[in-house]
Amino acid sequence: MEFEKQSALITGGASGLGRKAAQLFCERGAHVIIADVNKEQGLQTVTELRENGGKADFVQVNVADESSVQTLIEEIRQKIGRLDVLINNAGITRDSMLHKMGKEKWDQVIAINLTGVYVCTKAAIPLMLENGYGRIINTSSVVGLYGNIGQTNYAAAKAGVIGLTKTWAKELGAKGITVNAVAPGFIHTPMLDAVPEKILEMMRQKVPVLRLGEAEDIARAYVFLASPQSSYINGAVLSVDGGLTL
Ligand code: CAA
Repeated sequence: MEFEKQSALITGGASGLGRKAAQLFCERGAHVIIADVNKEQGLQTVTELRENGGKADFVQVNVADESSVQTLIEEIRQKIGRLDVLINNAGITRDSMLHKMGKEKWDQVIAINLTGVYVCTKAAIPLMLENGYGRIINTSSVVGLYGNIGQTNYAAAKAGVIGLTKTWAKELGAKGITVNAVAPGFIHTPMLDAVPEKILEMMRQKVPVLRLGEAEDIARAYVFLASPQSSYINGAVLSVDGGLTL
């Protein structure tokens, strides 16, 4: 129960990586708050977590919308009184070759995957500072490190996430808050539904461990970086990709 008496805010926690993370944090004693735009899935996830003995709440939030994120943090302050862990995990893809990528697809991905991380972290910091303690984990991607055909918008956002992770690690380290990023490879989640089978097979062949990742592979990395024991890891980008990028 390494997160007993701690609270963990997980954006995009209704499904995919975030949902698995919510489960692992609940099992380890955290009070989990799932912030997600998808109400139906969010409520269903929270119901399941509670049925398994977890402490969990759902709040419907668009991470790019400053005022609703601010309201969410106020609610956490009033109902729980502290925020120990923030996992900026919410993300979307709108893949397209550059020559076909309309600005709308660029704007959507930058808003959720990059601006959302800025908005949520800026709003959460004052509450973390009240206790002089915090663990912030940002979800980047192998695509942010190395690029990917068809993902101009996503690669730009995920590379941006690495830049802000390192900046915040420098700004906040002295205040008891560490900031790290996880860079997942290709992981079995609903996000992969949009990827053609031919491309997935190509990725599978490239991974030295000969499989795509599972949500739990990433959720375990979140737990590791969020734990009180990782206090000397700050500004790191942890690749969890089965060696895809070697
Ligand atoms: N590597 C190598 N070749 C690729 C490629 C890739 N990643 N992606 C596309 N291509 C190739 C295609 O095979 C095709 O080649 P041929 O002309 O020789 O057949 C060519 O590029 C054009 O591709 P499409 O015919 O598919 O073009 P399209 O305009 O219909 O679709 C696309 C373009 C939407 C980008 C589509 O190719 C696609 O969905 N690609 C996959 C994009 C991807 O990898 N997304 C990752 C999502 S998961 C994620 O983002 C999580 C994470 O953090 C990793």
